[in-house]
Amino acid sequence: MAERRINEDYLRELRDKNEISEVVSSYVNLRRHGSTMKGLCPFHNEKTPSFTVYLDTQSFYCFGCGAGGDVITFIRRIDNLGYLDAVKTLAQRVNMPLPEDGFDDGVSNRRRRMLAANREAARFFHDCLMSPQGRGCLDYLLDRGYTMSTIRHFGLGYAPNEWHALCDHLHQKGFSMPELVDANLARKSEKNGKVNYYDNFRNRAIVPIIDVNGNVVAFGGRVLDDSKPKYINTSDTLVYKKGAGVFGLNFAKSSGERRLILTEGYMDTIALHQAGFTNSIACLGTALPDEQVNLVSRYADEVLLSYDSDEAGQKAVQRAIAAFSKVGVKVRVLALSGGKDPDEIIKKYGPERFRAIVDGAANDIEFRLNKTRQPFDVSTDDGKINFMREAVGILASIDSDIERDVYEARLSNDLGISKESISNQVRAARRRRKVGQEREAFRKIQTQSFSSDKSVAVTANLGAVRAEERLIANLVRDPALYRQLGDQLSEELFLSEFYRRVFQVILPYLQNAEQPDITILAQYFSTEEIGRLTGVINAGVPSGNSGAECVECINRLKEEKNKADVGDVSSFSDEEFSKLFK
Ligand code: CTP
Ligand code: MN
Repeated sequence: MAERRINEDYLRELRDKNEISEVVSSYVNLRRHGSTMKGLCPFHNEKTPSFTVYLDTQSFYCFGCGAGGDVITFIRRIDNLGYLDAVKTLAQRVNMPLPEDGFDDGVSNRRRRMLAANREAARFFHDCLMSPQGRGCLDYLLDRGYTMSTIRHFGLGYAPNEWHALCDHLHQKGFSMPELVDANLARKSEKNGKVNYYDNFRNRAIVPIIDVNGNVVAFGGRVLDDSKPKYINTSDTLVYKKGAGVFGLNFAKSSGERRLILTEGYMDTIALHQAGFTNSIACLGTALPDEQVNLVSRYADEVLLSYDSDEAGQKAVQRAIAAFSKVGVKVRVLALSGGKDPDEIIKKYGPERFRAIVDGAANDIEFRLNKTRQPFDVSTDDGKINFMREAVGILASIDSDIERDVYEARLSNDLGISKESISNQVRAARRRRKVGQEREAFRKIQTQSFSSDKSVAVTANLGAVRAEERLIANLVRDPALYRQLGDQLSEELFLSEFYRRVFQVILPYLQNAEQPDITILAQYFSTEEIGRLTGVINAGVPSGNSGAECVECINRLKEEKNKADVGDVSSFSDEEFSKLFK
């Protein structure tokens, strides 16, 4: 919850400019369903879509996991941000300044300037490539087999063989030298007390790195011959973390595939796109930090690893399998042969060969079994038993019965151990896994449930809660009702702590005949609470008879209140309430 509230007109403008289905669409594939849109929930694992975007209330709600809220809540949850940072992110997205009376620390302004400088630099590099001075570089790229249309599609460029070409150009466009140094576009040197600024990228082919929002966040530059270093890249800046960028995701996310091909470098990814594999991306660097893995996992259910066949590449494969498995993304390893990387293979044998490799992708189970097997001598009983012990763990991680059966049979054949005894062990291991997972899930629910630690038995009455929900939904949707009902409404009416709190929050709006829409409410509640509230508000489709419905709810609550007073169960605590809700 924000300690300091942001001007509400500002919030409304922010919400209006960030149309929710557009924002959500860059994370979730949405399909139109009447006045709503549906897709697979990004907040839990599901196979049939229960994640719904409501265009009329500009909100989302998942019937599967209860996540819900407005566009700010969505960004908070999906990017794991605090309220203010989510507001900043959305403001940046639509180039809105940050609200005056708030929290602008200057950082977001610097970010905006840096992105503008990068964009201008990318344009400059591209223009240079297309001008006479870029001829050599253009020939290099064409020689590598990239077409003009690919070069334009990726906005490739050329950094001239000069010391100040870019600096001069950007200076003319109004950027200061320190700004360019911050953006890592320029470097600063001091000799004999004399400060000199010079271009970071010189005489190199330039690949702009564009994030999922279409911002140019960094550059990679490759030499045009065999000199060293082969590549230089933008280092850490305010808008880019070195080694954490993902190249090509801006295109791959709209390839319509949730199976992405991951390569080691941008040249490979560009070659793959050109060959028709528009679901290809490159993780820059092989360290795979969490933020990079999380980003990819939003767009991928499965990753096809297409790393170089050298030793470094194979080490990276193991790291990638571990990293992606952790976030529930399936990994398959492409068995590259006949070339060191996808770029080479496509050039030598054509896209068909690569397609065949993709279709026959050995999966990570095979890879892991082979790796695990290496240190053991399976011709001895000891070796067999020890290898089996580890292999059972790997097989137990397969959820598909058929797939498990295949590997059990294969292993039985390979090792000369009866399939039945392998199956028995795997089944036992799966049972242990399941118990472990259930315990884990239970612990999670416990820690998520509400703050109050009183453990009072749930005596609450579902009917009363439904009445509170309908009442709140109607009031939020049609604040004018308050004038009709005002004197009958008070916070004492509400039995649950939660809806009493909701009522307290919306009351001042109702009194002003203003709509306390979800974006406004989101300032006052946790993401979990706003999710619940969003579900309730969207369920309360105006009946045309909402006045009468409210009166009914009020009467119902008064009745319950009387009963409760007699029974001395005056209200539901938030904790009881949350149990009820589940
Ligand atoms: N890389 C880098 N700096 C280097 C070498 C490599 O940043 N000095 C990164 C680049 O992103 C590169 C990736 O690591 O794309 C893979 O390196 P490598 O296999 O050497 O390059 P290729 O992509 O095969 O480049 P090319 O085909 O242009 O030789
Ligand atoms: Mn290569």
